[in-house]
Amino acid sequence: MKKVFTAFTVLIVLVLLYAIAILWFRDPDTVLVLDRNSLRNESLRFGKDFLWGASTSAYQVEGNCTNCNWSQFETTLDPQGHPRIARGQICGPAADHWNRYKEDILLLKELHLTAFRFSVEWSKVEPEEGVFADSVLDHYERVVDELRASGIEPFITLHHFTNPLWFDRKGGFERDDSPEILARFAAKVVQRLGSKVRFWSTINEPNIYAVEGYFRGTFPPAQHDPKKAILVFRNLLRAHTACFQAIKQVRPEAHVGLLANIFVFDPPERWNLLDVMLAHYLNEAFSVSVIDYLTTGVFDFSLPGVGSEHFDSGVREAFDFVGLNYYSRLLYHFDLFTEEKMVAVQYLPRAELTDKGWEIYPEGLYRALRMISSRTAKPIYITENGIADDSDLKRASFIEDHLLVTNRAIHDGMNVKGYFYWSLMDNFEWVDGFDVRFGLYAVDFATQKRTLRKGSLKYKEIIMQSEKSRE
Ligand code: FCB
Repeated sequence: MKKVFTAFTVLIVLVLLYAIAILWFRDPDTVLVLDRNSLRNESLRFGKDFLWGASTSAYQVEGNCTNCNWSQFETTLDPQGHPRIARGQICGPAADHWNRYKEDILLLKELHLTAFRFSVEWSKVEPEEGVFADSVLDHYERVVDELRASGIEPFITLHHFTNPLWFDRKGGFERDDSPEILARFAAKVVQRLGSKVRFWSTINEPNIYAVEGYFRGTFPPAQHDPKKAILVFRNLLRAHTACFQAIKQVRPEAHVGLLANIFVFDPPERWNLLDVMLAHYLNEAFSVSVIDYLTTGVFDFSLPGVGSEHFDSGVREAFDFVGLNYYSRLLYHFDLFTEEKMVAVQYLPRAELTDKGWEIYPEGLYRALRMISSRTAKPIYITENGIADDSDLKRASFIEDHLLVTNRAIHDGMNVKGYFYWSLMDNFEWVDGFDVRFGLYAVDFATQKRTLRKGSLKYKEIIMQSEKSRE
């Protein structure tokens, strides 16, 4: 008996060692290292129709978005009595883009950009339930006209984190009928602008909205309720499908997509089986679930110890493109003794960080593109990628590395059709207020003066190189 037991133990240990060895040496994701020099030597393969863009969102740049949940949230305190936004800042006039859009379109042109991603502010367009402000739609039409006249493709997001107050008071995306409410707004905007706009993004980052608003409590409504987080995540995905259908009814030819935020999750140590399993779970739950929903129409989600959700919308393939917002990777360690059963781990000492504290990890962009490409052949637009770097010392190499990784992905057969740097200019970065600076252009918020950051010239240089290589 004892012999059998010993043999069994030895077998288990061998299997574990084998699994660890495989993870250490073979895992294609965590060991992926893209050699910068060989990337630099590759010819550029961005097609003629590749969109070179910059991104913004209404709340972060327009100013005067006083009728929405964020504007209210900014003035409240957390349970410990601290302001919600760094140093108690408020968004207020932001970058005054509402009034300065013409000047800002010139900024796009200066860098040879061919596309501009911006959002329409729901709380301005529909200030009261069912009441639509024509003057606001007029404004957005003028923006679109100005872009078109400048040869720049408008790429519009319908929902980028903010909700009108009336919608929030009713329960926001916790409501079962929230998809129809958002779809009614989407239809209205597309009826007005659809003849001039080809690209429509329904919802920006449903995963971030649900996690920050209902799990971590850093975004409104600042709740810590994992069950509700799952419900809201599901309703946002349902809302995407409802918007997709509503837009297609108005404009069958429109290109409609959803914007997924993908942070790559990795184990801090590749041999730790529990951390490896945790990273796998997080990647599936946070990112793969969104892409799978798009392709299958099914939302399958489970949070061990909290609950699970299985929802079949009955509509497969309700998208024309995937928008990918990629910034970095996160390392988590499994920890049974914490409430969340995991703790964030500091990056490795050699990691290079941004002002946000995120690791600069261009390989993650390749991995995210590969994850999406293995599930759909439809076009992918990188709708956000950028660096918080006030010193501007790292921006040029950040842009170069991420674009070269994108070039490699195209070379490897992935259907990447555009890249939008976040952000065109410094803006109100949610809980960080004006403290982190992503902009291609620096903004002096006292005077609203825009100044091109030197590092941003790398973007223009690559765009021009790409044009040249096609001549
Ligand atoms: C994304 C948001 C965007 C911006 C960047 C830094 O998650 O979509 O509005 O704040 O992060």
